[in-house]
Amino acid sequence: MNCAVIVAAGRGNRFGSQIPKQFVEIGGKPVLIHTLERFENCAAIDEIILVLAAAEIEGFRRLLQKFDFSKLKKICAGGDTRAASVFEGVKNASAQTQIFVIHDGARPFVKDSEITQTIEKAKEKGASCLTAEVTDTIKEVDEKGSIIRTISRESLRRALTPQCFRADILRKAFASVENLSATATDECYLVENAGFQVAAVKGSAQNIKITFPEDLAFAEYLLNRSADFSSDAPNNF
Ligand code: CTP
Ligand code: MG
Repeated sequence: MNCAVIVAAGRGNRFGSQIPKQFVEIGGKPVLIHTLERFENCAAIDEIILVLAAAEIEGFRRLLQKFDFSKLKKICAGGDTRAASVFEGVKNASAQTQIFVIHDGARPFVKDSEITQTIEKAKEKGASCLTAEVTDTIKEVDEKGSIIRTISRESLRRALTPQCFRADILRKAFASVENLSATATDECYLVENAGFQVAAVKGSAQNIKITFPEDLAFAEYLLNRSADFSSDAPNNF
């Protein structure tokens, strides 16, 4: 059983809108609905747990009445940090879960093949992370803002989601963390720190996380460009 935990309990401070960015509409539907559709339509996903801020659960349930998400089994309240929100989702998943598929609610352009390949890699290796290449030249700077050196980007990757884990590994990683309010911005970090290897899976630069207001224009463009994101349209970027 593969369980997607979709975390959407953040405030979206960098986005800066009145309503959190995951509820902002693109193509006439909230970002989060697009994300849920990707997972609902993926054959490799058996169950979805959605994590929302407690105050938003009731309103989103009302909105969900317009849609039919048969795999959405539970909506639970998140925590102060992303890791705390993921932990709530994991606790609320079915005991039969073998692979956890952790995904950002604000990342609506994930492809079916990206979800499936990341799950397959986690089944094989225990833990996997969808990644993208780094295309800019990377500089390390000191506290005064002066460049200290240039870091070779060949071995660098950006961590995307989904990040997939065998259930026992993810539970051990959470058990090893004393304070979930600390700095982890993804689950791989927790799993790496607990001593497990995480396999990188090649993903697409189109799998963007809506972070800043300007990301919306690109999101609308991506939506218009391909009406069917569950298919694997060639990557023209
Ligand atoms: N998230 C969450 N619970 C939190 C913080 C974040 O569920 N306490 C979710 C967000 O809703 C988002 C995903 O984790 O779908 C990725 O986080 P990010 O892009 O950082 O979103 P926010 O934390 O909402 O944005 P910001 O950091 O700009 O405030
Ligand atoms: Mg954040």
